[in-house]
Amino acid sequence: MGDVAYINGTFCELSQARVSVEDRGFQFADSVYEGITTYRREPFLLTEHLRRLRNSARAIHLPIPLSDERITELVREGVRRSGYDEVHIYMQLTRGAASRSHPFPAGAEPTVVMTFKAAIRVPADVRAQGVSVMSRPDNRWGSCNVKSVMLLPNVLAKQEALDRGAYDALFVGPDQVVYEASSSNVFLVRAGEVWTPQRSDKILPGITCDYIVESLPRLGILGGGRLVYLDDLLAADEVFLAGTTTETLGVVSIDGKMIGDGQVGPVTRRLYEELFASLTR
Ligand code: PDD
Repeated sequence: MGDVAYINGTFCELSQARVSVEDRGFQFADSVYEGITTYRREPFLLTEHLRRLRNSARAIHLPIPLSDERITELVREGVRRSGYDEVHIYMQLTRGAASRSHPFPAGAEPTVVMTFKAAIRVPADVRAQGVSVMSRPDNRWGSCNVKSVMLLPNVLAKQEALDRGAYDALFVGPDQVVYEASSSNVFLVRAGEVWTPQRSDKILPGITCDYIVESLPRLGILGGGRLVYLDDLLAADEVFLAGTTTETLGVVSIDGKMIGDGQVGPVTRRLYEELFASLTR
């Protein structure tokens, strides 16, 4: 019971888990990852997360040494071993440990790491009040659709936002096209329709984002992906962030400008209730 890790075939307490200092994930960010949460101890949208992990691994020419079936078994075992009511599952795959040199190492075995910790949701008061975000130029690499651990621009953007009293940063292109936040996707609500920036290599194809977009017809809401400019967000009735940990989280101001009436809007609240809160009831 407690924080659990899985490393290359073995489960242990997270505090005991070790990887080599020559692991390429550590030295080169030569690595991809997934973050998954459970609802009622069931890994949510696991098939979709494993599909994205395969896409990310393929994009960096990294073979995954385990089948989806085996990974699923390990995930279930980790959830069970942790004993938590709800679990945050972190999964990372690296090109393995090898003497430091840029080319792919011959014969290195990929490192497979998973961690199982208590899931932490956004506090209810933060969700009720909504958050402020700031926009900033996107200085990330050109393959943000690959879920790689090369997250330094995201880390710096998040910290800059916190230092300025905001909750998060939105990455915006030179033409004022909006991409995403530091660890979540973004949506706008206008005249009852729900839109998110259309997929590109500057946006992670969010599993939560897909889940929301695919749920819209059932909820009788129009929307989907399209080009979104910063001005569209500023003129929207509602803006919200979406991600595995974030679920849906209303944005009430951007760069100090109020969105809508400055409160978390009815569509954001409805999506949270119907698509996330309902999973725990
Ligand atoms: N982040 N965009 C970015 C840059 C992200 O890092 C994430 C997820 C998302 C949302 O994707 P999903 O709905 O599949 O969680 C969008 C995870 C939570 C993380 O970095 O821990």
